[in-house]
Amino acid sequence: MTVETIGITGTGYYLPERVLTNFDLEKMVDTSDQWILERTGIRQRRLAAPGETASSMAEAASRPALAAAGVDPEQLDLIILGTFTADQPLPAAACLLQARLGNHTAACFDISAACCGFIYALELGEKLMLGGRYRNALIVASEVLSCVTDWQDRNTCVLFGDGAGAVVLSKGAGGHRILDTYIGADGEYASLLKVEAGGSAVPITREVLDRREQYVRMEGNKVFKLAVSSMARSARRVLKQAGGTAGEVTWLLPHQANLRIMKAVAKSLKIPEERVYINVDRYGNMSGATVPVGLAEMDHNGVLKPGDLVLMVAFGGGLTWSASLVRW
Ligand code: UT7
Repeated sequence: MTVETIGITGTGYYLPERVLTNFDLEKMVDTSDQWILERTGIRQRRLAAPGETASSMAEAASRPALAAAGVDPEQLDLIILGTFTADQPLPAAACLLQARLGNHTAACFDISAACCGFIYALELGEKLMLGGRYRNALIVASEVLSCVTDWQDRNTCVLFGDGAGAVVLSKGAGGHRILDTYIGADGEYASLLKVEAGGSAVPITREVLDRREQYVRMEGNKVFKLAVSSMARSARRVLKQAGGTAGEVTWLLPHQANLRIMKAVAKSLKIPEERVYINVDRYGNMSGATVPVGLAEMDHNGVLKPGDLVLMVAFGGGLTWSASLVRW
């Protein structure tokens, strides 16, 4: 008898073509390549073209993931999209993605967990599938952060980039197994990283736009400290749940917000820096998309080998935190 398990059977990612370098930003706000590189590790980021949306980028990431999994879009019975930059408030971008893919029956919804969007979606997808009703799920994170970035605010505009990443989860004998996942949040810190306007608390008005409250604001320094402690804690928690140790981890794939944060997390876990996957220099902080873009990039570039233990860990607005352990 074949034991049915749930595993990652395909990965994909999409990055918009346009590159914005630190030198470009020097011409836009009072900053320097040296400051950005030293403080964040970022050299450049990608920006969506006019007309590119969370669902269009999600489709571009999903097609290669579906092809690799050998799953036709019609076979999907679940689509979960992590994003806080959906195409529009209603309907969910997951439904727009579904229509783009030509699927007409899957359950579709977005989740808002900021930089943890992918790992939250992965946990939801896997647990729903364990319930027995779903066979093929598409788990995506897609962010067009450039549309909520205040290009006059040097505290934030140097940090973000646009991108999308996707995995297919399938029930069956194959696939890379999710050993365990841990997700959590503490809303007490909600004000540290936010988009104030555009919801029911502060609907968009001309005055709101004049005050530029439609853009992301962050108390970077406070978020930095919480990012390090909660990512390290989440990583330890998921390792404990799975009965593993940091010493067994082949690749630490952290949310790519800041190189200094990633190094501090690795140090706290005693994972050598050469085992930390980094692409923040090329793409900046793409919120929930950083982890699946990293995973898909590692997969497509042959970085991941069978048997590798991959520890994904993220942290973001909410404040949310999350970690997931996958056996490749
Ligand atoms: O993805 C979700 C989670 N997000 C994160 O994890 C981000 C966490 N935070 C960070 O990565 C860092 O806090 C930042 C990169 C955002 C900022 O680095 P920092 O070392 O915490 O700098 P800071 O905010 O303490 O600012 C230091 C100085 C300030 O000047 P004064 O007040 O010391 O004179 C800022 O005004 O750097 C100034 N500064 C800049 N200077 C040049 C802030 N942004 C810039 C800039 N260019 N772009």
